[in-house]
Amino acid sequence: MTEAAGALAARIRDIAGPEPVEVGMVLGSGLGHLAAAVEGVAIPYADLPGFPHAGVSGHSATLAIGRMEGRRVAIFGGREHYYERGRADAMRLPLTVLKGLGADRLILTNAAGSLVPEVPPGGLMLLADHINFSGLNPLIGEPTDARFVPMTAAHDPDLRAALRAAAAAEGIALAEGVYAWYSGPSFETPAEIRAIRRLGADAVGMSTVPEVILARFLGLKVAAISVITNMGAGLSDEAISHDHTKAMAPLGAAKLERVLRRWLREAGEAQTR
Ligand code: HPA
Repeated sequence: MTEAAGALAARIRDIAGPEPVEVGMVLGSGLGHLAAAVEGVAIPYADLPGFPHAGVSGHSATLAIGRMEGRRVAIFGGREHYYERGRADAMRLPLTVLKGLGADRLILTNAAGSLVPEVPPGGLMLLADHINFSGLNPLIGEPTDARFVPMTAAHDPDLRAALRAAAAAEGIALAEGVYAWYSGPSFETPAEIRAIRRLGADAVGMSTVPEVILARFLGLKVAAISVITNMGAGLSDEAISHDHTKAMAPLGAAKLERVLRRWLREAGEAQTR
C-alpha cells in the first residue's frame, strides 16, 4: 500500500472504528440510496484527499462505513469516471484504501444500457465478463510486473454464484451477460451499439471495467451488477439521456438492494477471507 493510501486508511479507522471491513461496494448512477442503509458513519469524499470529486449528478460523494445485514461494509456512494478528467485510474486510491481497511470482496454496481431484448429497462444483469471497448487501462504507467494482471475469470465465479443464489432466493430475475465499457460521456451511436452487439456485448456503460481491473490488481475478488435503465441507442424509440438514466435507475435499485442484502446475510460468510 502506498503512503497516501495507508494514511487515508488510518484516518478512516479513526473516524469509523478499527474493525476490519469485509466487503466494499461502489454505487452507480441513481443507486446511491443504498448507502443510507449502512449503520455507521458517512465520510464526505471532500475529507479524504485523493478521493473523487462530486462530479456527476446522481452520485453521492460519501464513503459509508458500518454494518449492513450484520456485515462490516464500506460503500462508495459514487465513483469517478474516466470521462470526468480523462483518468482511467481515478478509483485506484479509493480501492487501495478499501483493501487497506481489510476488504477482500468488492461489488460494483452501475446503470447501463441493454443490448438484448430479454433484459429490458428495470432489469438486473450480473456481469459474466466484460469487453474493454475503450482500449484504456487504469494500469498504464504502473511500473511493476504486477501490471500484467490476468483477466481470466476476473468476474469471480464464486461471488457470481452467490449473487445468483441470493437473487433466486428473493425471486428476482438476474440475467447474466457481457458488459462493454464505452468511455462516454456522449452516449453511443446506433452503429456503435450494433458493433458491440456483434462483438458479444449484452450491456453497455461508461464505468466499472477500470474498477474490475484495479480490483484484480489489488487482489480483491470482484463482481458487478448492472441496473438496466434503457435499451442501447437505436434499439428502441425512447430518448437516451442522463436524466432518463437517473429516473429509471430506482426501478431496478429496489431489486438490487434486496439481492445485495440477501447476499450479505447469507453468502457473505461463505467466502474465504
Ligand atoms: N450507454 C452508456 N452508458 C449508459 C447507458 C447507455 O445506454 N445507460 C446508462 N448508462
